[in-house]
Amino acid sequence: MKSRVAPQGVAEKSAEKSEDPRRATPVDLRSDTVTKPTPEMRRAMAEAEVGDDVYGEDPTINRLEHLAAEIFSRDAAIFVPSGTMGNQIAIKIHTRPGQEVICEERAHIFNYEMATLAAFSGCIARPIPAADGILSWAEVKKRIRPKTYYISQTGLVALENTHNMAGGTVYPTQVANEICDAAHEAGLPVHLDGARVFNAAAALGKSVAELTRRFDSVMFCLSKGLGAPVGSLLVGSRDFIEQARVYRKALGGGMRQAGILAAAGLIALERMPARLRDDHANARFLADGLAQVQGIRVDAKKVQTNIVVFDIANTGMNSAEFSRRLAESNVLANGIDPQTMRMVTHMDVDRAGCERALAAVRAICGKN
Ligand SMILES: Cc1ncc(COP(=O)(O)O)c(C=O)c1O
Repeated sequence: MKSRVAPQGVAEKSAEKSEDPRRATPVDLRSDTVTKPTPEMRRAMAEAEVGDDVYGEDPTINRLEHLAAEIFSRDAAIFVPSGTMGNQIAIKIHTRPGQEVICEERAHIFNYEMATLAAFSGCIARPIPAADGILSWAEVKKRIRPKTYYISQTGLVALENTHNMAGGTVYPTQVANEICDAAHEAGLPVHLDGARVFNAAAALGKSVAELTRRFDSVMFCLSKGLGAPVGSLLVGSRDFIEQARVYRKALGGGMRQAGILAAAGLIALERMPARLRDDHANARFLADGLAQVQGIRVDAKKVQTNIVVFDIANTGMNSAEFSRRLAESNVLANGIDPQTMRMVTHMDVDRAGCERALAAVRAICGKN
């Protein structure tokens, strides 16, 4: 006898077929942090071998840390719960209280890490505006403080690659290398907020090791484009990572049997970099479509990775209203200021989802 109950998912699919966007599954472009673990990740998490990581006894975390160090051609790596914790541990190790951290003015470490560089490291940011978020040595050099005892001293230079708020922009390797080499000559360490450094590597067709070789430390996230549910890694010299273990514990980041998280992280690190180009192609597709919409300004050629930042000033809506009206069609996107929106592609949004997002944008912009 045939069952009369529709199998799971059919109801959703037929809602999409009926073209009622209010009933369709959401297209969530708010961030690449919204992805759900794949079935393979969930299986690996359920079966993960674990131990107490504060005693260094979690075999799955140990494997993840070894793999990360190997991929980045470094001595060592440490698994941390979040990108924020990874960045802030690095800042703490590289600086002393009373120093300045040079960064781009839209940098995550400056704007979105709860002033932890002040609260935890006792430093202030020395932010520099830069086109597309990409600093040059000429600009950095101007902000290095003179070595005079009555002036606060520069302690660290921190770059972000890709640059989130500038629209996923990528540092040309030569530009980043020049900043690292010259900063080192000036006696300054350089940290990389590489939350999305695998996106940068995919865009440039280079390895993350090649992109990051000259940095003193690198933080990268498993929980963004790579699709893991939780976790980031900090990589660097053995001595640096030993110090990082102390600060991770101090911040409450000793997570015991967190091998269940590292198991998903291993899959993210091994399998997911290869698919990032699909996200980049989808972001470019979105940007090309958005550029055709009346009232929207975006330079699609600048979309190199998975983030599209676009100006809606001439649509007659602010970003709160724009987001709210998109959400009525089950398309989710956030504003980054009243006249600027951001859409981020990732493994849980396919080309059809991007087409739906564009249709929703056209619909709301046509009806002003
Ligand atoms: C560039 C950048 N750095 C660091 C972070 C912090 O990562 P987490 O959210 O895991 O703390 C983010 C998060 O969005 C980010 O975009």
